Amino acid sequence: MMAVPEQTPPSSLEVGDYYDRLTDLMNRALGGNTHLGYWPQPGDGSSPGKAADRLTDLLIGKLRGITGRRVLDVGCGSGKPAVRLALSAPVDVVGVTVSEVQVGLATALAKQSHVADRVVFTRADAMELPFPDGSFDAAWALECLLHMPSPAQVIREIARVLRPGGRLAVTDVALRAFGRTGMKRGECTSQLLAVPALVHIDEYAGMIADAGLELHELTDIGDQVVGPSFAALRDHVNEHLDEYAAAFGIGVAEMRKVVAQCTTLPWTPDIGYVVLTARRPGE
Ligand SMILES: C[S@@+](CC[C@H](N)C(=O)[O-])C[C@H]1O[C@@H](n2cnc3c(N)ncnc32)[C@H](O)[C@@H]1O
Repeated sequence: MMAVPEQTPPSSLEVGDYYDRLTDLMNRALGGNTHLGYWPQPGDGSSPGKAADRLTDLLIGKLRGITGRRVLDVGCGSGKPAVRLALSAPVDVVGVTVSEVQVGLATALAKQSHVADRVVFTRADAMELPFPDGSFDAAWALECLLHMPSPAQVIREIARVLRPGGRLAVTDVALRAFGRTGMKRGECTSQLLAVPALVHIDEYAGMIADAGLELHELTDIGDQVVGPSFAALRDHVNEHLDEYAAAFGIGVAEMRKVVAQCTTLPWTPDIGYVVLTARRPGE
């Protein structure tokens, strides 16, 4: 990611198009997932797919014991986390994504996993969730806020559709407050990766409070997620340069330059990975 503050943020339609083009490659890199991996013991040799499933399991643990059974999956990707959740607990999941390709893949996965009666996916924009107030017992947003024009607006929308007492779990890539490269709010942005502007980790508490939610946990597990995941993705891009170049709509030489630039920029220590839980007060 580079500092290009004057760029126009990608619209939801553009983010959908990005995932229509990239999902197959990401799924191949991350064992059917579209999110990063978690290596609590660095160098334990787990594959990126196994580490990505482990991150899903960390979040499943955060929603354990919810009362009620209706769960919203905001930015559901190609459905693997929602299906994994449904296979681990007696819940019904509704997943939303802006990518039509992901809706198709996720729906097929739910069928193949025999949970299609409990897990459904639809194309919708999380900035304006098409659900009534108080209609979910829980929600999670796994690594999707980074793509939203306003993460604060999405958190408000999630708070609206949660019932009183409803629970929220979030993971996301975010900037660390003590960033050593001096990147400021709004400066870590990438048109190529459909990221309007990463928020600072210390902004989450305010966004949660402004949405009327109670914050329960805010942890940064970036050291166990970001470096090893980016290394795995870099290797996958290098192995499939021509496919990634086609998906990004650039030439192979340009793709090679992007990878080299991402590899040499000193920003990785500035990037954290938030795990957050919250609750809508009441009940
Ligand atoms: C990095 S992927 C994570 C996918 C999935 N949560 C997972 O963990 O595998 C980001 C997801 O956010 C979704 N997304 C981005 N902007 C969105 C928006 N405005 N409304 C709904 N989904 C959005 C993308 O379509 C994609 O599914």
